[in-house]
Amino acid sequence: MKPIENSSYQVFFDNSLQSVHQILSKKKYSKIFVLTDEMTGQYCLPVFQEKLPELTDFDLIEVPNGEENKTIDFCIGIWQMLLEFEADRNAILINLGGGVVTDMGGFAASTFKRGIDFIQIPTTLLSQVDASVGGKTGVDLSDVKNIIGTFTQPEAVIIATDFLKTLDERQMTSGFAEVIKHGIIANADFFKEITALENANEITEKQIYHSIGIKNKVVLEDPFEKGLRKTLNFGHTIGHAIESWSLKNDKNSLLHGEAIALGMICEAYLAKEIIGLPESDLELITSSFLKFFGKYKIRQGIEQELLEIMKNDKKNVSGKIGFSLPDKLGNCLFDIFVEENLIKKSLNYYRSLEL
Ligand SMILES: NC(=O)c1ccc[n+]([C@@H]2O[C@H](COP(=O)([O-])OP(=O)(O)OC[C@H]3O[C@@H](n4cnc5c(N)ncnc54)[C@H](O)[C@@H]3O)[C@@H](O)[C@H]2O)c1
Ligand SMILES: [Zn+2]
Repeated sequence: MKPIENSSYQVFFDNSLQSVHQILSKKKYSKIFVLTDEMTGQYCLPVFQEKLPELTDFDLIEVPNGEENKTIDFCIGIWQMLLEFEADRNAILINLGGGVVTDMGGFAASTFKRGIDFIQIPTTLLSQVDASVGGKTGVDLSDVKNIIGTFTQPEAVIIATDFLKTLDERQMTSGFAEVIKHGIIANADFFKEITALENANEITEKQIYHSIGIKNKVVLEDPFEKGLRKTLNFGHTIGHAIESWSLKNDKNSLLHGEAIALGMICEAYLAKEIIGLPESDLELITSSFLKFFGKYKIRQGIEQELLEIMKNDKKNVSGKIGFSLPDKLGNCLFDIFVEENLIKKSLNYYRSLEL
């Protein structure tokens, strides 16, 4: 598969990982660092080493896994390790992990000594199809996600779908929500192709390629989210509010993709009400998400709380709740402002669905 081209770098599809050598030979790097979390240290690092036996001369940095560790404190830990191992400006960091590792590692690299090179090797479906391209790096601060960060492009992104073999099914399905989203906002045929699968584990390398291609095209056209890039936020206004609520209130809280799957159902309802998304498209979108994600019980009486979370979303301008909504399968509009009452109705639409 030929690499996907971004502005200054390529996205390689390379289970052999030989493209790592290609990147490392481009410059004379003084030192090589590999960042993992505990899980990718256990599951992905041995594969990395097996495929790259010649690459022995690197220092390993490990952080604990989980979104709660995507913080400036762990970033300081990474900077300290770089300092301790005497990284200079010609050092390179290879981020081997899910979106937490690629976001935080990218941020640490983009700020250390005003920026050192880094390579992204995303190992979850979500990070391969979403976090891998677009140049956003960052950490969370006091429960606000990705509030500290930079736009910095890596030297390369390497997609090795073999890593997905050890990813658990729930994480795989969560990432699949973003793949379906790419179909809804940009390509109706792709939407139909992937929603015809039985489950997320059946996704092929070609379909992952296609999904990244969609995101790549959008971020190339609008790197700093002035317009078109906002379409990638479809499902995320309501989805993000539910995700935050669930994190605080549920014992077994929703994963990001699970929350935005729910968000996409509610927002597709808004799209039907406001911008004429055909009823048949709404039904297709709804039944597809229910098939892969089942149904979550949105507790009665939390509507106002959810609305408050939506109003505080960093993407809003002057307190109005903005949405990106499809007007038909395969096309998405943005900057659509919706009345609070209708948002409440969309939650009731979701509640009324039967499996
Ligand atoms: N930069 C962007 O544009 C962008 C886009 C989307 C999401 N993100 C960020 O990505 C993060 C979510 O990414 P994620 O879903 O990959 O989460 P994650 O990095 O927390 O990974 C999920 C879990 O899977 C484990 N894991 C990773 N790869 C594995 C493998 N191959 N086998 C077994 N276990 C593995 C991880 O250790 C972790 O426990 C969020 O912080 C989000 O903000 C960034
Ligand atoms: Zn998302």
